[in-house]
Amino acid sequence: MSEIKLPEVELNIYSKKEPVEVTVVENYVATKDSSPNIVRHITFDISGTDLVDKIRVGQSLGVLPPGTDKNGRPHKLRLYSVSSPSSGEKGKKYLISTTVKRTVEELKEKIYLGVASNYLADLKPGDKVKVTGPSGRRFLLPENAKDFNYIFFATGTGIAPFRGMIHELFEQDYENECVLVFGCPYRTDLLYADYFEEMDENKLKFHYVPCISRESRRKDGSKYYVQTMLEERSELLSPLLAKENTLIYICGMKGMETGIYLQLLKKGFTEYLEIKKELPENPADIPNDKFKRFIKPSMRVFEEVY
Ligand code: A2P
Repeated sequence: MSEIKLPEVELNIYSKKEPVEVTVVENYVATKDSSPNIVRHITFDISGTDLVDKIRVGQSLGVLPPGTDKNGRPHKLRLYSVSSPSSGEKGKKYLISTTVKRTVEELKEKIYLGVASNYLADLKPGDKVKVTGPSGRRFLLPENAKDFNYIFFATGTGIAPFRGMIHELFEQDYENECVLVFGCPYRTDLLYADYFEEMDENKLKFHYVPCISRESRRKDGSKYYVQTMLEERSELLSPLLAKENTLIYICGMKGMETGIYLQLLKKGFTEYLEIKKELPENPADIPNDKFKRFIKPSMRVFEEVY
């Protein structure tokens, strides 16, 4: 296999103490149909800042919402993954996008809106936002990205980096194979569906595998989760996993990674795993908080879960 060379990146050009102001240029809903899970695609103009040419897809930007919390302290910084390719949104290096889900929670019969996500989701073109970063040096495409096949597993807004990465791969004369497995609760929650459906139709080397968890059940009664696609779509995924130049990227809900590792183990794709100690008879019995004592991802797996 080709060596996996991750690019050198500059981190925290702008810190929390000295953030930089960028301008919103667009803010639209990223689902085709309306959904109670509101996810928005937001693009910032970073021209005139030192961030231009310095942000790679896979990295995040910090956002500082204005105002203070109930104790009078400034709101905490929140990190948002970049969803534009490293060359910039729409090919413009001064445009950087992110993907934001409005967070809404009910506690003791009162409704609470997440501060940063709703602040961002409400922004209009022309509004200014204080940002920091970039941050993250590991969840990146290799410098020699074209040498590899990719299986991207995303749940929810975990799709953000993969949107940019897939743009980036197919901007080049990419000739290997790439699969996006995307999991969400309902069909109305599919993110950037038009883009991925069109790519799937037009690019022989790209395969879009949506996976809807709450509309139907598998034969054994379990939910369709991204990891179950390793079985459901094994005709597509197994030959790809068997290739020595395939990399796996995982982004989204904490816990999804263990499901994927267990499936890889079950199917014998152990080259993606590091088995740290003897496994119990049924590895699925390992408690989540102890999982990484037994099984860790190998160098061929990139993981960002939250
Ligand atoms: P579900 O909530 O039906 O159990 P979103 O971020 O839009 O809510 O989407 C997250 C998706 O990930 C949902 O379809 C959710 O299914 C699914 N999911 C929940 N837990 C896991 C898990 N452990 N592994 C993989 N997918 C999961």
